[in-house]
Amino acid sequence: MSDKISAVKRGVWGSKFAFVLAAAGSAVGLGNIWKFPYITGVNGGGAFVLVYLLSVVLVGLPILMAEILLGKSAHRDPVGTFKVLSNGSKGWMLVGWLGVIAGFVILSFYSVVAGWAMNYLFKSIIHPFTGLDPKSVSEMFSHLAADPKTEIIWHFVFMFLTVIIVIGGVKSGLEKWSKILMPLLFLILLFMVGYGMTTTGFSKGLEFLFKPDFSKLTPKSILEALGHAFFTLSLGMGAMITYGSYLKNEDDIVGPAIWIAVLDTVIALLAGIAIFSIVFSFNLKPGAGPGLVFQTLPVIFAKIKFGMVLSSLFFLLLTFAALTSAISLLEVVVAYFVDEMNVNRKIATPVIGLIIFFLGVPSAIWDNFFGAMDSLSTNFLLPTGGFFIAIFAGYRLKEEIKKINFSKYGNWLYIGWNFTIRYLSPILVLIILLNSLGIIKVI
Ligand code: PHE
Repeated sequence: MSDKISAVKRGVWGSKFAFVLAAAGSAVGLGNIWKFPYITGVNGGGAFVLVYLLSVVLVGLPILMAEILLGKSAHRDPVGTFKVLSNGSKGWMLVGWLGVIAGFVILSFYSVVAGWAMNYLFKSIIHPFTGLDPKSVSEMFSHLAADPKTEIIWHFVFMFLTVIIVIGGVKSGLEKWSKILMPLLFLILLFMVGYGMTTTGFSKGLEFLFKPDFSKLTPKSILEALGHAFFTLSLGMGAMITYGSYLKNEDDIVGPAIWIAVLDTVIALLAGIAIFSIVFSFNLKPGAGPGLVFQTLPVIFAKIKFGMVLSSLFFLLLTFAALTSAISLLEVVVAYFVDEMNVNRKIATPVIGLIIFFLGVPSAIWDNFFGAMDSLSTNFLLPTGGFFIAIFAGYRLKEEIKKINFSKYGNWLYIGWNFTIRYLSPILVLIILLNSLGIIKVI
């Protein structure tokens, strides 16, 4: 299929801005607002944050560029991308399949958490948090966590919404809403940080986040920081390959990749600052686990004027941020069945959605299952996928790399990226994976 025909058939982004927005929509999600603060709390703060930031710069950003480049060069779903660019090598296609599997696994537990956010949106409207003390706010989350039926219902509602959007045009509706809702989410977060600044725990929160205590670093926490860099930037499973595949051949990829990584990181750090200010002001536990955001922010919503409006808005926006990420997860799986297996999109999407719903049910019931799914995908599937994507881009895409417009940014960027993608990123990923498995001992 020639490029032109395929572009007309598959569609292209309306503008460069539309691409950045959609890709940032995929990157910014529960990973930033729910997961980053909670795993930072569990892993002891500053040192973990530092490893995460280093992972974003040294591994995440280069691989983000590689994924967009892969998609843009092939104009196909991730499996098709590897097929086209490797001349049909089954081994390389396996990397695409790994991504499809990761899509199933991640969305199954992601949707359960998004269901919690929707439940809190519902609560904000029906029983506002007004007047509740921190202990009662905490208990509210424990009640939800002990009530799988409610969790499963909301998980279903969220999957249902995701399926509806993926069936009917990801582009028009979602692009339009993203333009309004993503900046709004940013504003609310800024407000929460502003509020955090007035609380007694603000400086302690900052210290917890940014003052590294290296004695807290373990091989497992280093792997988690690296895995989270992949998770939060939607890397290692083909989501960014898929979004890149809707770019035009002449489109720039360097600028957008930097924008996406910066936006994603800033939003995570803002969420962290807001949440840890509250944690330290009200003597809550930083290591509370997956419930952290649900046990902290409502404490503020309960105290302030218009708290009900603000909490409804916050959980609405969190749900929306989760949706823009969930559709990119589902899109990877759907694109594979549509592009490679010739299944009709209208059939593939609901069937896959239903399978993912069932796969998520045990995550709603058992914490351990939830943890295992998260850890399998974040700490194993994504870094492994990312490793092979880096190798493929660095060693097999020489012609395509020449076409990237690095000159706009200076030759140093080309040299730096080439070195990182070929040597630094894959070696770092390999060392961290082997170190956490105990096969080699670095730390
Ligand atoms: N990046 C998303 C988030 O932070 C999650 C995600 C992971 C989306 C992998 C797509 C692919 O919430």
